[in-house]
Amino acid sequence: MTFIRRTQIMSSERDEEEEQKTLQQHAQLLTELPKALGTFETDLYLYQGMWLYPDAILSIMLMQNHFNHHPTDIFLTSFMKSGTTWLRSLMFTILNRSRFDFSNHPLLRKGPHDCFPVLDLYKPKDYNITNTKPLPSNSPRLFATHFAYKMLPSSITEPSSGCKFVYVCRDPKDVLVSIWHFNIGLRPKELPPLSFEQVFNMFCEGVIEYGPYWDQVLGFWNAALESPDKILFFKYEEMKRDPEVHVKKLAEFMGLPISIQEEESGMVKKIVEFCSFEHLKSLEINKTGSHKANNGNVVPNQSFFRKGEVGDWKCHLTEEMKDRIDRITYDKFKDSGLTLGAAPQ
Ligand code: A3P
Repeated sequence: MTFIRRTQIMSSERDEEEEQKTLQQHAQLLTELPKALGTFETDLYLYQGMWLYPDAILSIMLMQNHFNHHPTDIFLTSFMKSGTTWLRSLMFTILNRSRFDFSNHPLLRKGPHDCFPVLDLYKPKDYNITNTKPLPSNSPRLFATHFAYKMLPSSITEPSSGCKFVYVCRDPKDVLVSIWHFNIGLRPKELPPLSFEQVFNMFCEGVIEYGPYWDQVLGFWNAALESPDKILFFKYEEMKRDPEVHVKKLAEFMGLPISIQEEESGMVKKIVEFCSFEHLKSLEINKTGSHKANNGNVVPNQSFFRKGEVGDWKCHLTEEMKDRIDRITYDKFKDSGLTLGAAPQ
């Protein structure tokens, strides 16, 4: 057996041992952490300031211990239901615009959630982010995650890592309404139903998957203020207002600026139209296809495309509910310079 082969086997054995240790720590941790009901099937646990389901806690522990970054990695980060699907499509399309023609594009055959991996649901057995089992190495690699900035391994957040982050946030009232439709739609039928009021209270109290919402947004906002070259901070509402400007900023940030020739050939418009809500929602793959998450859950692609509007909360929230969320948002963000949604009355 060659020296290299023997070293590979030893390092893979070491990785497995390390993973086993993390698994044991995870099992022990679940017996100790504060626990609450989630909107999906599993209980939530408060881990490092964020309410997470057990698989997500295991994933972040493994990531914190084993993630092997490339200096060109780009992470799409967001709170749930803030525009991840849209940004996924845009980032993938921008990155691959010279590889694929729009008439024969991978996004015509697979859903946006299958075009690059999410880091929140890796299981140890197929956990392929360790040294021995790297993810596809086409550069830059794209990943998505909802984890808080402070939870991500310091190897990727420290300035010298070279890694970049795109963050998208959205008015919390629309996020809540979108969560309500998405999470409740996927909640197993054998569980007692949750009312909109219950989910509203869970959201306001911060005890909801990846909550509290405000802490997650502020973490990225503050980091973006500190390192604007490393973190690009977008607002869903501003993207809706002027998608072309955002596509250009995104391309530039990803290190693939739109050239004058591309600009003249209408490339920006083509990307915007191709990734528009109406176009993606109309595709057969997004009407009938599904995304198989790494924890085995199957999510119909159509559930990622509901209305895609700004202000749909007006159809769901009472005046009192609106005021409560706006008040929390105002109080949490008042010293940060960040504004989202309306100021409270
Ligand atoms: P609504 O439920 O308000 O319609 P995420 O992708 O982070 O899970 O967020 C889902 C929200 O983004 C949903 O909002 C969905 O309809 C909307 N969305 C999905 N694709 C979009 C696109 N291409 N453009 C704008 N919004 C989009």
